[in-house]
Amino acid sequence: MRKLSKAIARRDVQSIGLLRWLTATGHKDIGTLYLVFALAMLFIGGAMALWLRAELFAPGLRLMGPHVYNQLLTLHALIMIFGAVLPALSGLASWQIPLMIGAPDMAFPRVNALGFWLLPFACALLLATLFLQASGGAPAAGWTFYPPLSMQGGLGADLAILAVLMLCVSAALTALNAVATVFGLRASGMTLVRLPMFVWTWLVAAFLLLVAAPALAGALLLQLGDRHFGTQFFDAAGGGDPRFAQHLFWFFGNSAEYILILPAVGIVSQILPTFARKPLFGHVSTALAVFAAACLALIGWGSHMVATGLPPAGALFFMYGAMLAAVPASVVVFNWIATLWRGSLSFETPMLFALAFVLEFTLGGLAGLVLALAPLDLQHHDTQSVVAHAHTMLVSGALFAILGGAYYWLPRWTGRRYDERLGKLHFWLSLLGANLAFLPQYWLGAAGMSRRIPDYALQFTEPNRWSTVGAFLLGLAQLIFLYVVVRTVRGGRKADVRFWEGARGLEWTQRSAPRGFGAGPRTRSPNP
Ligand code: HEM
Repeated sequence: MRKLSKAIARRDVQSIGLLRWLTATGHKDIGTLYLVFALAMLFIGGAMALWLRAELFAPGLRLMGPHVYNQLLTLHALIMIFGAVLPALSGLASWQIPLMIGAPDMAFPRVNALGFWLLPFACALLLATLFLQASGGAPAAGWTFYPPLSMQGGLGADLAILAVLMLCVSAALTALNAVATVFGLRASGMTLVRLPMFVWTWLVAAFLLLVAAPALAGALLLQLGDRHFGTQFFDAAGGGDPRFAQHLFWFFGNSAEYILILPAVGIVSQILPTFARKPLFGHVSTALAVFAAACLALIGWGSHMVATGLPPAGALFFMYGAMLAAVPASVVVFNWIATLWRGSLSFETPMLFALAFVLEFTLGGLAGLVLALAPLDLQHHDTQSVVAHAHTMLVSGALFAILGGAYYWLPRWTGRRYDERLGKLHFWLSLLGANLAFLPQYWLGAAGMSRRIPDYALQFTEPNRWSTVGAFLLGLAQLIFLYVVVRTVRGGRKADVRFWEGARGLEWTQRSAPRGFGAGPRTRSPNP
């Protein structure tokens, strides 16, 4: 207490433990808060996933009924997307963008803090719905909130809508801050084409988020209107149209896939050149491909709605649009391979995660191409193939890139080395676990096993068993990551500022002050 009163007298509450974090506005502190929170949510969302997989280990209902199953998968998806992966990317942006563009901080430090603090409240609200079983429990209509099913929920469904609205506001504030920082605080000489790829991909994702998030917020507000104020936007009996909700949701949802995957592409485009000891091949064409992918994302939402009976012209438009997305993706993959070609490669943990991302991104992209073909999509719609594709892109894709980025920048953030052997063990167990978990689901989907149903026919038993074993392996492997991070922060061996020999970029040029750079440095290339 004496320490606190002294600190208050010195007007220096920042120095006191918890108070420092509660009052933090510096980009590194907020970045750290985002990353720690995202890791906690990853474990909560992961525990839900393992519970779902435990139920799917064998046919028959053993651990939960269909309603609880639907509640868990809805919360799992919302927590993983809005509570874990997106905040992890926001944490990397808050830490890295000022360091990489030579700025003292994010443009609006307090907005940065607000963007973070909305998260724990929104996620607590989401998780609290699990304890409202007496009034219908947690939302159980999937993360897509499709009416009329979503209209059946009780108080839990209302609280979930409010929570997701808060998460939209948090994400929009972060996106606004990223855009203002990149446009307002770049080092002189750093033109848009010289932006490091991670910053460029984040900038494009931020614009995508600012355009797409209002559609989700609108869909949720209209649902609140239908639930409580007698409107009938989505009620067919009242002249509304439930498909309108799907159009609004997927205008956001389709872009959301790119909002999560584009910064991951940026992370990988930072890591591969470092461990190939060559600059990124085709920096400009990669940047243009990222921009083109974002534009296609905005016009591709209907590819998720072919089964709702779109008119043939509409189905064809969305099919060709979704197929076109393969072009920019191929340009990026080609440039990565060209970067590795004849490079002097080394395979530290960040490089392994980056290479796994290249592989899984390509595999997931090819599976996406199959689902984009309207006739095939009608076969695979709402089957395990869709779950497999989503998890290949979100887990073996986005999550692996984020883990690779964490290992890559951890020495920069902490000034300490992590245990490379444990890092590699974490990688190989994660790779094995993720593929064992999600590859069998492609077969299950093609064979006709539906998603969002906790039971299945006997012939699907074996692949489901392997998928569950893989999921548990993947879950356990993340405990190694937690151990590596805690041990590094607490007592890892000292690391030089330019820890990776092949690293290029402003963030590796000097150990900056807690609030980033003082007077802005001058840059003349994307790799200063
Ligand atoms: C860590 C490993 C993970 C496992 C084992 C896992 C497992 C599952 C399972 C079993 C389902 C329900 C499938 C069904 O019956 O329809 C599911 C749904 C889903 N998961 Fe995961 N998941 C994992 C990670 C993630 C991550 C990291 C994300 C997002 C970033 C994610 C997003 C989703 C989404 C969007 C759904 C669909 C929910 C819906 O149908 O509305 N999952 N997951």
